[in-house]
Amino acid sequence: MERLLIIGGSGFLGRRLTCDLATRFAIVATCHTTCRSSDFPLDLAVTDAVKHAIVKIAPDIIVHCGGLTDVDSCEMNPVRAWAVNVEGTRAVLEATSAKVIYVSTDYVFDGDAGPYVPGTPPTPVNVYGATKAAAEHDVLSASRRNAVVRVAGLYGLAPGHLRVPDLVASESISARVDQYSTPLYVNDVARNFTAIVGQGGITHLVGEARLSRYDLFRAIVGAAGSSTRVRGIRSAEDRRPARRPADASLVRSPGLVTTPFESALRCFGALADTGCGRPV
Ligand SMILES: NC(=O)c1ccc[n+]([C@@H]2O[C@H](COP(=O)([O-])OP(=O)(O)OC[C@H]3O[C@@H](n4cnc5c(N)ncnc54)[C@H](OP(=O)(O)O)[C@@H]3O)[C@@H](O)[C@H]2O)c1
Repeated sequence: MERLLIIGGSGFLGRRLTCDLATRFAIVATCHTTCRSSDFPLDLAVTDAVKHAIVKIAPDIIVHCGGLTDVDSCEMNPVRAWAVNVEGTRAVLEATSAKVIYVSTDYVFDGDAGPYVPGTPPTPVNVYGATKAAAEHDVLSASRRNAVVRVAGLYGLAPGHLRVPDLVASESISARVDQYSTPLYVNDVARNFTAIVGQGGITHLVGEARLSRYDLFRAIVGAAGSSTRVRGIRSAEDRRPARRPADASLVRSPGLVTTPFESALRCFGALADTGCGRPV
């Protein structure tokens, strides 16, 4: 069985992948602050430790979905964001000859000219996007076998990361009516894993529907039967540290299959996730 290292295995996507790929690979999943006993603790900012860990684990394939993902926190701590997201990724690349699949984001684009195809040069408008674009560049430069998989607006359930219930547990949330993306059901990454492993270069793995944040959140809250109030706001009213791309929709790469938005909503509407199982 091939050895798969999931960097960021304790995150939302990482937990989902760790569960869904467990029968196909011998998985080592890393964590940083939210560790379970089976996780391998790793701080991407400590580059010597990263290199040592990768040599010790000796993976056949690496999925790198770890790092700082809070867009405003990256904006306020750019040095830390660069150290974790860029220098940490460089350390991974220097320590391995395994295939690296780097999970990236629609936020590498400015959002002024969506939908974007994979070959469009990145134009980030915030620190998070800039660090992800720099890491993408390094991953692709290191080997032609390496892959960058851009995802967007992940939604769904993963064990220990019940992002949807977190959302619907709030009394009220505000969401932008004029910020668009092509959100992806989190289970669809594992679903397309064979295709992803077989590809090098940049892949866009996103859902078919182009939705505003407001429409996305309202649909999720509605599917969950929650009483959470979703208040629509315009970007100009939403004063947060980092600028967001207005329309970072991505054109999905050929040969990938994703769950239609309405079907995905039905899948997680029951708000329960049985450990490593599917939402019920
Ligand atoms: N979520 C989205 O909507 C979205 C959209 C577009 C792209 N993406 C991309 O998809 C990937 C996965 O996103 P996600 O939502 O699963 O992120 P997440 O839930 O925030 O998980 C991030 C992971 O990185 C780990 N991490 C944080 N700081 C670290 C450090 N200094 N050293 C090592 N590991 C560290 C976290 O560990 P602990 O939790 O244990 O601290 C966690 O395992 C990311 O590459 C992100 O850029 C996500």
